[in-house]
Amino acid sequence: MRKTVIAGNWKMHKTVDEARELAKALVAGIQADLAGQALPDVVLCPTFVCLPEVLNTVKGSAVQVGAQNMDYRDSGAFTGEIAAPMLTAIHVSHVIIGHSERRQYFAETNHTVNLKVKNALKHGLTPIMCVGETLGERDENLTDNIIKHQVTAGLAEISEAEVAKLVVAYEPVWAIGTGKNCEVVEANRVCKLIRTTINELYPGDKGPGHVADSIPVLYGGSVKASTIEEQMAQTDIDGALVGGAALKAEEFLPIIRGGAKRCKASVGAVNASK
Ligand code: 13P
Repeated sequence: MRKTVIAGNWKMHKTVDEARELAKALVAGIQADLAGQALPDVVLCPTFVCLPEVLNTVKGSAVQVGAQNMDYRDSGAFTGEIAAPMLTAIHVSHVIIGHSERRQYFAETNHTVNLKVKNALKHGLTPIMCVGETLGERDENLTDNIIKHQVTAGLAEISEAEVAKLVVAYEPVWAIGTGKNCEVVEANRVCKLIRTTINELYPGDKGPGHVADSIPVLYGGSVKASTIEEQMAQTDIDGALVGGAALKAEEFLPIIRGGAKRCKASVGAVNASK
């Protein structure tokens, strides 16, 4: 059974005080709405400066904290960068890698994504590796090729045991921050393509089709309270990476509840198959 993951990418928003208040409201809201229920993995990804405060605020709750980026080296003369051991030392559990905004504005390539995923795994961080096509690529019918290439290049030289610890997010670039949702059947198809691609890369001893069964594949791009239920009802969308709607507790809590509903449905399905 795959985990459901609801991650909030706060991008370059929130001061330390604002981040603390949002984290506090989310912890209280989860406690009020979902106490005693199967919860998705809820991961809050604030800016680096807010990480200690948010970690402190969620302490003792099930909420986890992720970074939005990291360097692929352990330390050194790299002004302005943050290394994985610095994140693990403060108990950050996840790190977003290869977000399209980093690819677009900060020269992130499939190669640097691969180096970062490898380094994150080496240090026990869970990478949330982002892939997604631009509108131009979609219009030229290149979506599948782009996704397969980004997944394959991002996972180069990573062992099957390591890749099992990964989370992947499908974020079509044209759906990010635009209010334009990728139609849910299409989003599910691409999430499934990601899983098939990983399974083909890792045929393993038992033949293709098992390693990616444990890897959550999330959808991201204008996810809202009004879209989450349908998204979480799909076979291959295991959660959401949320931008704008993760910045207000009243908008993010219903999305977390949508994730919890998927957890409940999969627990039910497992029990029914026993
Ligand atoms: P929006 O939810 O604002 O479209 O952002 C998605 C995203 O980029 C999450 O990483």
